[in-house]
Order: sequence, then C-alpha cells, then structure tokens
Amino acid sequence: LVQERFLAEEIRRLKEERNAVILAHSYQRPEVQEVADFVGDSLGLSREAARTKAEVIVFAGVHFMAETAAILNPDKTVLLPDLGAGCSLADSIAPEDVQRWKEENPDGIVVAYVNTRAEVKALADVCVTSANAVEVVAGLPEGRPIFFLPDMFLGAYVERMTGRKLELWPGECHVHAGIRAEHLEALLREHPAAEFLIHPECGCGSSCLYLKPDAKMLSTEGMVRYAAASPASEFVVATEVGILHRLRKLAPDKDFVPVKPDAVCEYMKTITLEKVYESLRDLKHVVRVPEEVAERARRALSAMLQVG
Ligand code: 13P
Ligand code: SF4
Repeated sequence: LVQERFLAEEIRRLKEERNAVILAHSYQRPEVQEVADFVGDSLGLSREAARTKAEVIVFAGVHFMAETAAILNPDKTVLLPDLGAGCSLADSIAPEDVQRWKEENPDGIVVAYVNTRAEVKALADVCVTSANAVEVVAGLPEGRPIFFLPDMFLGAYVERMTGRKLELWPGECHVHAGIRAEHLEALLREHPAAEFLIHPECGCGSSCLYLKPDAKMLSTEGMVRYAAASPASEFVVATEVGILHRLRKLAPDKDFVPVKPDAVCEYMKTITLEKVYESLRDLKHVVRVPEEVAERARRALSAMLQVG
C-alpha cells in the first residue's frame, strides 16, 4: 500500500511535468483507474483522445485503443505502458480478410468495431463501438451489402436491433464469448429480482432474448450510467469484472454481482501502476501509426465520431 501511494504520487508529479493525461478503460486495475484523468468505454476514450490538449497521452488500455488515440492525434506522443496489451478480438481479423471481401463486394460497406488494428480500420468505411453500433448501422444507406467485423455476437445483436442484414465475421473476444447461457441461467435462479446488464460481446447475447428479455445490453459506460440512474438495488453484470470497481464506487449502496467472476481480460491486466509510472518516467512505449494508414483510418473514426 505504501508502494502504491508512492507510485500514485510520482505519477501525478510526472503527469504535470510531462503535460500528460492518463486515459483508462473500465477494465483496468482499480489502482490504475484511480490515477487516471478519465475512465471510460471505448467510445468515451476515443472522444477524450480526440479533444485532449495534453502533449502526452498515456493509454491505460490495450494496443488498439492506443493506436486509435495515435490516429486521432498525429502530433502527440501516445504511450502504452506494456506493448503486450493486445486483444484476442482485434487479432481475429487481418487486413487481407477485409480486402478480399471488398474485392468480392465492390459496392459494399465495411463497418469495423474499434477493437481492430489500424490497418483494418484503414479499409473500413466507418468504425463503431458497443455504445453506438446500433445507431451507426441504422443510419447506413439501404440496398448495399454490409460487412460487420470482427465480433459476431455484437454483429448479431446489431442485426436484431436494426433489422438490417449484415455479413458477420466469425470473430469473438475470448473473455466475453466465455460468458454463456448457462452462467446467465444460474444467476437468474439466484437473483430473480436483480436487473441484468449485459455487454453485447457476450456469448449469452441471443439466449438473453428468451431467458431475460428485459436485460439491458450496454457498453461499459452504458452500464455505469444505467446503474446510477436506476432505482434498483441489485444488478447482475455480464462483462469483464474490472467494471465492478467503477460500479461499486459510483453506487456503494447497491449490489453488483458478476455473472462470471473469472471473466478477466489478461491483456487489460498487464497494465500495472508501476508500468504506468515507468511509462511516464521513460516516455515508453510510443505507439505510432504510419500516416498513410492513419489518414484512411481517421476517416472511418471521424465518420463514427460525427454520429450522436
Ligand atoms: P466498451 O468499453 O466499449 O464497452 O468495450 C468493451 C471491450 O471489450 C473493450 O475491450
Ligand atoms: Fe479484447 Fe476482450 Fe480484452 Fe476487450 S476484453 S480487450 S475485447 S480481449
């Protein structure tokens, strides 16, 4: 604890010295969330990265998020405290897979979840996050094939909500895909009065329709906002468990029960307080996206940021 307090103080000092900002995702370790200037979902983090005045952005999250910040801020220094912070979902699709689909569907529209590499975003027409995917897809022109990638569970949810036919890439996040109908069923029996908050990347998404039709499908930020506003006192939460810190901090008088307590993203957890400190101290590891890729990816991200 003494070490933690020391690191937190050093981080605050270095942040000022470097004119830096720390952006953290909701799945980060609690002590990392506590030193961050902004904690949010992928959409909030993209918006914050686009508007920050700081010269240095330390991204407490995973690689595709730091890349997104670098694409939106070509003149700033974007740091990822551990380059091993990847994403199984982003790794599930390669630029060649998108290129092939585009060649087969010259009039097609490519919708890329932000959980993708910069080279994949560069081939997309528009990006989405879990918070705005329904809105973005609902606004696309009719009569053209739409390729939604790479998360098939989020894609199936967007199809249901918009009534639009999507071609889905069979990608998944190993953490969310592991949250299945049987986990949901068990919690429904144990907590019949609770509200259910489900991330649309979850493998239990479609079974939710008949198991718990009034469950709320939300991004991590959506869960925080919903829980704060709801009069309910008990919530069952289906996503990576890092979100519980934010939920419990925001509403200490409410109960939050994880659907799957071992739903832990090891990539998110590679970022420790010590690595955040070292990152600021040594200005490492710089994440850069070549401008010819960044320029095209920026178009897809800007198209997303203009919605809503
Ligand atoms: P959101 O924060 O946008 O809900 O995304 C979840 C996720 O898996 C990010 O890695
Ligand atoms: Fe990627 Fe899943 Fe981890 Fe999010 S939780 S960073 S989608 S592996």
